[in-house]
Amino acid sequence: MVGKHLLELFALLTFFTLGSLAQSASLIDVLRLEGFTAFADFLIRTNTSLPAGSDGDLIVYAPTNAALVRSLAAPSIRKRGVDEEEVAGSYQIAQNNKVVTNTPKRDYHDGSGTCSAVSGPGAVDFMTFLDDPEWVNLPPNNNASIVQKNTPKGALPVVFSGLGESVKVTGLDIAFDKGVIRPVSGMFTLPHLLSATLPFLGNDKVLAALQSTGLLNELDNIRGITFLAPDDRAIPAGLPNEVLADVLRQHTLLGPPIFTSDLQNGATYQTLAGTTVTVTVQCGDVFINGARILAGDAIIKNGVVHTVDKVSLPMPIVMTQKPNNLDTSCLTPPAS
Ligand SMILES: *[C@@H]1O[C@H](CO)[C@@H](O)[C@H](O)[C@H]1NC(C)=O
Ligand SMILES: *[C@@H]1O[C@H](CO)[C@@H](O)[C@H](O)[C@H]1NC(C)=O
Repeated sequence: MVGKHLLELFALLTFFTLGSLAQSASLIDVLRLEGFTAFADFLIRTNTSLPAGSDGDLIVYAPTNAALVRSLAAPSIRKRGVDEEEVAGSYQIAQNNKVVTNTPKRDYHDGSGTCSAVSGPGAVDFMTFLDDPEWVNLPPNNNASIVQKNTPKGALPVVFSGLGESVKVTGLDIAFDKGVIRPVSGMFTLPHLLSATLPFLGNDKVLAALQSTGLLNELDNIRGITFLAPDDRAIPAGLPNEVLADVLRQHTLLGPPIFTSDLQNGATYQTLAGTTVTVTVQCGDVFINGARILAGDAIIKNGVVHTVDKVSLPMPIVMTQKPNNLDTSCLTPPAS
């Protein structure tokens, strides 16, 4: 009996010692202690150091050992060359210094045809320490971002990065001396050009339209865009090139990237065509000038891409498009 109590006391002491040790221990030490040995080795091998001056507000997204091996072996464009590995570590480190005013209260259909106001899943974007110009072309004081989205029913969040890829958060935060380690199911995918990203999102028609109008090069090189990519079913056939070019310019918002986490009901943004678009948040869905966001937050080198279900036309052209992809998740409010 006494032995058992002693053992429990010992376990308790060890727990507290490890706990307080973690809060004062360095990133590499805590990563090793907690079994993220491959990621610790990766950070050392790639000379990734923590930014100076950070004060307990860092989030280090650490893939588990198996997840890191999987990520590093991923095929084709996602295959990490030596250059890519050098900067990949800096994309896993984010700063949690953003005031979170951007989890808009969303309303959902209550099943009887009306919307009832409940808090939706919500999202937040974080800026990372990836600032290498080979991968990032944003207005000053903007590094590459990631967008962390909550999932309904209290499941752990998912995190969106380049090429429309996302990874899952797989465990609770672990403290170290400059912030927290957040376990994830893989490395983030680095941001690529818009032209390289659209095929990964399945937006082939808009890519072809950008090519045929000669806009692609311009959009790949503007510093800071939010591109609303109409999905393949939304692209009207047979528009003259100059009309198509105008349509595409109206789908390009200028300035620092606007993530879905930033989109507030009633907000307005300037487009490359010189027009203004308005955001509407309704029944858990976000619309920009009436076009619903189907998939958001594919991070690109110079901003972000959101796939939308409709084309906003600059002039009255009759559309015979039926609304597609009715979101049935809207019919059931998530558990709060
Ligand atoms: C890391 O730093 C060491 C020493 O400065 C250098 O020899 C090595 O090439 C660097 N490795 C990378 C991947 O930059
Ligand atoms: C961008 O990343 C660099 C390099 O790590 C860092 O020094 C800088 O503070 C970051 N900038 C912002 C605005 O987070």
